[in-house]
Amino acid sequence: TSISLIGVPTDIGAGHRGASMGPEALRVAGLGEALSGRGLDVVDRGNVSGPANPWLPPTEGYRHLEEVVAWNRATMDAVAAELEHGRLPIVLGGDHCLAVGSIVAVAAHCRKVGKKLRIIWLDAHADFNTSDLTPSGNVHGMPVACLCGHGPEPMVNLGGSSPAITPDMVRQVGIRSVDEGERRLVHEAGLDIYDMRYIDEHGMRRAMEEVLKDVDEDTHIHVSFDVDFLDPSFAPGVGTTVQGGPTYREAQLVMEMIADTGLMGSLDIVELNPALDEKNRTGLVAVDLVESLFGKSTLMRA
Ligand code: ARG
Ligand code: MN
Ligand code: MN
Ligand code: MN
Repeated sequence: TSISLIGVPTDIGAGHRGASMGPEALRVAGLGEALSGRGLDVVDRGNVSGPANPWLPPTEGYRHLEEVVAWNRATMDAVAAELEHGRLPIVLGGDHCLAVGSIVAVAAHCRKVGKKLRIIWLDAHADFNTSDLTPSGNVHGMPVACLCGHGPEPMVNLGGSSPAITPDMVRQVGIRSVDEGERRLVHEAGLDIYDMRYIDEHGMRRAMEEVLKDVDEDTHIHVSFDVDFLDPSFAPGVGTTVQGGPTYREAQLVMEMIADTGLMGSLDIVELNPALDEKNRTGLVAVDLVESLFGKSTLMRA
């Protein structure tokens, strides 16, 4: 596999400043070296650029919509270029709004090459808000809704046709914070969510078996890894911590079970906020988990 790292240094869609430092923290934590050490061909494309964060309050339900769109266009173009060359893009965020650009490019690629798309959304949050429902106006709480056609015109039509994806392509894991109105829209859309209650009752193994059901060699798996998926006791460096997340062991199993499919074709690593971290420990744990996502295992596997 040939991997391209794409930095998207922005906190434009978030309610805290600092995720803009995420790409560099992942590099400093050794992401590139860890993957090339596994025998993978890794090229770091550097960072895409976009507008500065004006840090203004929301207008009409969105904070910084124009800048969010600009960052997402740049992300979409960078991801599309890598897929075009047959490479596996890893987007280093940045806040989670950038998943719109990333996944719009991935969905277009899948249509072009005739692959089925499965999006595995690892997150504490459903990120299914709209301007009417959002408690914050922060677009990082809206990317899944935008991708499914609910959102502002420039985001919903980023790739030229809407919706970019349908809810049946999405599996969410680790969810434990859904806002009041968001809950209704999630239900209406029929999103397939493995929330913490499901994981407590049935275990992570069963959840991931369901998530990976019916994937085959014609499936492109996209993983959108919001670092706040992880329990904040061992991954505190994020803006929107929610207690009661997956343990380190459960998170490892998630990564290992995805790796076993051999079908991951693209990845986002988002919401790492070094300004809120402790000596980059969350960056280091993210890199450690991503190694498992690329097949690192304790013993030789058949
Ligand atoms: N649901 C909250 C909101 O919409 C938090 C969203 C957090 N999203 C994230 N990508 N960290 O404001
Ligand atoms: Mn989140
Ligand atoms: Mn998120
Ligand atoms: Mn592909």
